[in-house]
Amino acid sequence: SNTRKPIIAGNWKMHKTVFEATDFVKELLTFDVTKDVELVVCPTFTSLESVSALLKDSSVNLGAQNVHFESQGAFTGEISPGMLKTIGVDYCIIGHSERRQYFQETDELVNKKVKSVLETGMYPIMCVGETLTERENGDTEKVCKTQTVEGLKGLTAEEIQKVVIAYEPVWAIGTGKSATKEDANETIGYIRSVVEQLAGAEVASVIRIQYGGSVKPENIAEYMSMEHIDGALVGGASLTVKSFLDLTKF
Ligand code: G3P
Repeated sequence: SNTRKPIIAGNWKMHKTVFEATDFVKELLTFDVTKDVELVVCPTFTSLESVSALLKDSSVNLGAQNVHFESQGAFTGEISPGMLKTIGVDYCIIGHSERRQYFQETDELVNKKVKSVLETGMYPIMCVGETLTERENGDTEKVCKTQTVEGLKGLTAEEIQKVVIAYEPVWAIGTGKSATKEDANETIGYIRSVVEQLAGAEVASVIRIQYGGSVKPENIAEYMSMEHIDGALVGGASLTVKSFLDLTKF
């Protein structure tokens, strides 16, 4: 038992037009959302402003899926943290494995983005996790440690406390092959110990660490029953209102 409030975040990835996004949120808001769980939706950039307006007086929070680390300038096609903050974005997913894999994001870049998001007054959801090859080579802890240490480099303990970490083993993302609750809990417990080395026991006891990778209404309760797992970052199962709401029933 702990005092960490569970956080369930829906990462919509490159799904939903603005019309589909606003329809989703209007429907979501017709339900009584439990206050014991923090809910976050992370639409694409083109839907953020419309969704933000709808969520204004609700307890549901808003996240972006990416951001640039500079505050402004000649960076064609990019979006700054301030631009997101201005339209009411609370969270920003940083270093998702798809961005590391398809857009060559390095730990160094992740670190710059995490810092910039915190400086702007938003909360990063920083993703870490091993690939299948890394797992098979026994490098799960090594990879998670490096990504955590490098991603949080130069942050004060107070800043680290504001970060949400999402442990997403790459082999479990969108594959239906979810990690067992024991494996997920063990690795997340390990990541928590890495945070303790960086920021001390108190921060390690309050920082929230999610599991992500084929989380569904059918398996959410298993993960949530584990000591170190503080919620989930969910792709596929966050795309319908029913499934998303069912993720809060554990
Ligand atoms: O960020 C969430 C994610 O990568 C997991 O995706 O579809 O396996 O829930 P999914």
